Amino acid sequence: MNRKAVMLSGIKPTNFLTLGNSIGAIKSWLNLFETYDPIFMVVDLHSLTVPQDPEKLREATYRSLAVYVAAGLDPKRCLLFVQSQVPEHAQLSWIMNCMATMGELNRMTQFKDKSERAGSHIPAGLFTYPVLMAADILLYQANWVPVGADQKQHIELTRDLAIRMNNRFTPQEGPEAGATPKKPLFTIPEPYIPPVGARIMDLQEPTNKMGKSDSSENGAVYLFDSDKDIERKLKRAVTDSGTEIAFSDDKPGIQNLLTIQAALTGKKPQDLVAAYAGKQYGHLKVDTAEIVVQAIRPVRDEAERLLKDRGELDRILAEGARRASERAAPTLRRVYDALGFALPRA
Ligand code: TRP
Repeated sequence: MNRKAVMLSGIKPTNFLTLGNSIGAIKSWLNLFETYDPIFMVVDLHSLTVPQDPEKLREATYRSLAVYVAAGLDPKRCLLFVQSQVPEHAQLSWIMNCMATMGELNRMTQFKDKSERAGSHIPAGLFTYPVLMAADILLYQANWVPVGADQKQHIELTRDLAIRMNNRFTPQEGPEAGATPKKPLFTIPEPYIPPVGARIMDLQEPTNKMGKSDSSENGAVYLFDSDKDIERKLKRAVTDSGTEIAFSDDKPGIQNLLTIQAALTGKKPQDLVAAYAGKQYGHLKVDTAEIVVQAIRPVRDEAERLLKDRGELDRILAEGARRASERAAPTLRRVYDALGFALPRA
């Protein structure tokens, strides 16, 4: 049997939905659909490591889901679900908590950074965050996990935990009971570094990434911006005092507009530059605004339509949760069995 490798990713519902992190990221995902068995989850449990307003969290979860579906993460072609609806994540997470050590978790740089900022009330969940992430990944026997640099250490930890458990525990029964040799408990996942990954920067401060919490109102294009907002933001994009349209690091504002165009049209930045010979910054801004409006409008409009019909979104969620659980449950059962929990034989 020629099974496709599992590519799994999770994103917090509370992340800002911007041109940079949504449209760009989803487009690169869509290219992987044929080659991999794609799993995509909205990790609402993870978002609790900072205080959340319950109504806003629920809203953000539906919004993220609507955007992903609208942008092309077709629930028929990928496994799409919300983490809290699949109980196996919390269940395996406890086991992983007992396998990871305090020392290991203490070395996580993200924990160090975030706990410093959390002051004197550091939620224990901030400390055990990577353990839940490991459970997310290992439950589905994922082969590849696309991650940014900030998450690489968490993947390393996931690998260490998986290897440790594979060495310590032998699966008892399993879907393939009787087959020799026995399949280990977990597949060891690899970080997947996306090939091109356009870095879309803040329109007002083009040396910072778009959509960071400190970006100014005009610095980021959000997926729920109106056409008028998008046009205004792009026309006000910071450039420089020169006149020549070039793709170069000393022109970060111009470079960013060209990068946005390239990401959305699939054209090469050099070809775009050639076509702008003799033209002015204003032309580049107007064209980029038009391209961004054309890219966002259908996604935004479809997401808004979906949000009006919670019934449809709930059906997508229920079906996703059912399928996810169906895939996660056998892993959890094998782990329980290998660890020595009493399991009634079917
Ligand atoms: N920790 C990831 C982030 O902050 C989100 C995440 C949670 C994740 N579980 C995951 C990413 C599993 C990949 C796989 O971006």
